[in-house]
Amino acid sequence: MNAIECENLRRVYTSRSLLGQSRSTVALDALDLSVSRGQVFGILGPNGAGKTTAIRILATLLIPTSGQASVLGFDVVQQSNEVRKRIGLVLGGERGLYGRLSGRDNLRYFAALNQMNRGDARRRISELLELVGLTDQPKTLVEEYSRGMKQRLHLARGLLMDPEVLFLDEPTIGLDPVGAHEIRQMVPTLARGGTTVLLTTHYMFEADTLCDSIAIINKGRLAALGTPAEIKGRFSRIKITQITLKTPAPGLRDEIEALEDVQRVTEGTEDAMQQMVVHGPPDLDLNEFLQDKVPDGEIVSYLVRDPTLEEAYMSILN
Ligand SMILES: Nc1ncnc2c1ncn2[C@@H]1O[C@H](COP(=O)(O)OP(=O)(O)OP(=O)(O)O)[C@@H](O)[C@H]1O
Ligand SMILES: [Mg+2]
Repeated sequence: MNAIECENLRRVYTSRSLLGQSRSTVALDALDLSVSRGQVFGILGPNGAGKTTAIRILATLLIPTSGQASVLGFDVVQQSNEVRKRIGLVLGGERGLYGRLSGRDNLRYFAALNQMNRGDARRRISELLELVGLTDQPKTLVEEYSRGMKQRLHLARGLLMDPEVLFLDEPTIGLDPVGAHEIRQMVPTLARGGTTVLLTTHYMFEADTLCDSIAIINKGRLAALGTPAEIKGRFSRIKITQITLKTPAPGLRDEIEALEDVQRVTEGTEDAMQQMVVHGPPDLDLNEFLQDKVPDGEIVSYLVRDPTLEEAYMSILN
């Protein structure tokens, strides 16, 4: 049995303007997903693609318009109580924490809400504060926390009931590099302990290093699905050609971009040399073309490589 299954999932938001006109937005449109147990699964996609909507449905906070979703075999609509007992959710931001309480007292409060007995709660909370690195200032109120500290407390809250499935919506957004690194380091540890992690992120490097599988969604639909390596290879179907010229060749970039098959060309300069990065099909060979256009000796290097996840992402959404 998979940890998460979505089948034909659709969600339409309907809102009414002040003038009484109703407007509907299709946030998810026939989304299919399956995530096996113990996986770290990443959902990527542009702003408004439907990532948070998918997480909210899976975490039983939102009802789908149609289609089905289950977590650990329990239907998210029909068996939402069973789902809730087994999941943790980290949406981040300011909401959901009590500013006038310390971090420990926040967790105590949530433990009490979940009817955890006092001894267990004390032990679990100490363990979690240790895990997320919030033991230094036990008396500090959450309203005095930095964004990174709040995010770590959110994570501790998400882990309080020892969930089998953990949802992390942009867990490292707005964190400094050290704070983001610390959060990222916890994810593989959780997965090794058997927790299934579903996360969203806009940081391609983060997805590439953390995720066993990635789904790229766009306008509520699946655009690509696979391991990071599969996304870079099979799905993107591009190679990157990097060309360095001794002196800038005006207009050359546009000429390359105008070639059939070439998806995009970006350019930059380094040490007065011109560098071009060409996204094209795997069999693209620009050698002959460049020989025609560029004087002998001008080409410092010509290199073909696999795309990074970011480059693959851009080519898939192109
Ligand atoms: N409560 C709501 N009412 C109306 N429309 C909504 C609501 N929540 C989301 N939407 C719309 O649904 C679509 C998907 O939104 P969602 O928040 O799921 O995207 P996302 O992929 O999480 O984006 P981001 O990367 O910006 O977080 C967007 O077009 C958004 O404007
Ligand atoms: Mg979102």
